[in-house]
Amino acid sequence: MAAVYHRVDYDTHFNPEKYIQVVMSLIEYNRRFHVLLQKSLDTGKFCGDRMIDIGSGPNIHQLIPLCMRYKEIVCAEYTESCRRVLQNWKEKKRGSLDWTPCFKYVCGLEGNNGMLFSDETSEERENNLRKAIKEIIPCDVTKANPLEPRSDYPFDAMFTSLCLECASPDSRSYRQAVVNMASLLKPGGRLILWSFLNGTSYTIGETEFPILKVSEGFVKSALKEAGFIDIETTQVFYREDSDTTALNIGGFLYLTATKKARTQSVRK
Ligand SMILES: C[S@@+](CC[C@H](N)C(=O)[O-])C[C@H]1O[C@@H](n2cnc3c(N)ncnc32)[C@H](O)[C@@H]1O
Repeated sequence: MAAVYHRVDYDTHFNPEKYIQVVMSLIEYNRRFHVLLQKSLDTGKFCGDRMIDIGSGPNIHQLIPLCMRYKEIVCAEYTESCRRVLQNWKEKKRGSLDWTPCFKYVCGLEGNNGMLFSDETSEERENNLRKAIKEIIPCDVTKANPLEPRSDYPFDAMFTSLCLECASPDSRSYRQAVVNMASLLKPGGRLILWSFLNGTSYTIGETEFPILKVSEGFVKSALKEAGFIDIETTQVFYREDSDTTALNIGGFLYLTATKKARTQSVRK
């Protein structure tokens, strides 16, 4: 039986390479995510200078389209081993993860619409993403300033995938983590969130990690409480099959939102 580990054990028990194997096996759900993301990007509302990915893990596939919309990307991640995997990929170190099939797939999905240069190859996109990722830094969403001791924010946009529900042991800490994370985003800034829905755990190799069971209503209310508006959601239901038995979840939630702009105080 798999041993169940908790948030603090991410540093010691999270195996980035095995995790990526699980991520890669979720072909249908990755496809659904990228179709939804492309639809959001096609609105033209998601672009700017600096964006941050909160709880990146060792994963970069979600950033492939985003690097065409934001000049700089900061990957913020809790686990040291994941940060190393990302850094190795960025620096093209020997033995680093090969994301080539993913780049080919995402660039194909975008067609010419999603690309700045219609003749861009997936290899060029890999180099564009390497350049766009300016930094890979530590992050802990349980802290009031998740990037402590740094204070060089706010960011124009924020992306987070499968992180808050893994980092939070209960609903109160989830709500607080949303508030902490939101403090890094400028007023009017955009958020894209991809979450497990109604999950209890996921397994990597022999290790089982708990997931806080969140519903769409709960996630929306936590975001509203933290000052987000224009919340739009899509649920993706999960059907367990032999390839993806690693997940005890009901589905996924794709969500976009905007952080409320500061209201000007009117002087009488
Ligand atoms: C299921 S993985 C998701 C990784 C990646 N974003 C993805 O979509 O594949 C959960 C991630 O949350 C990170 N995490 C755990 N506790 C955290 C915390 N307190 N603050 C920020 N990230 C945390 C883990 O290190 C891990 O990378």
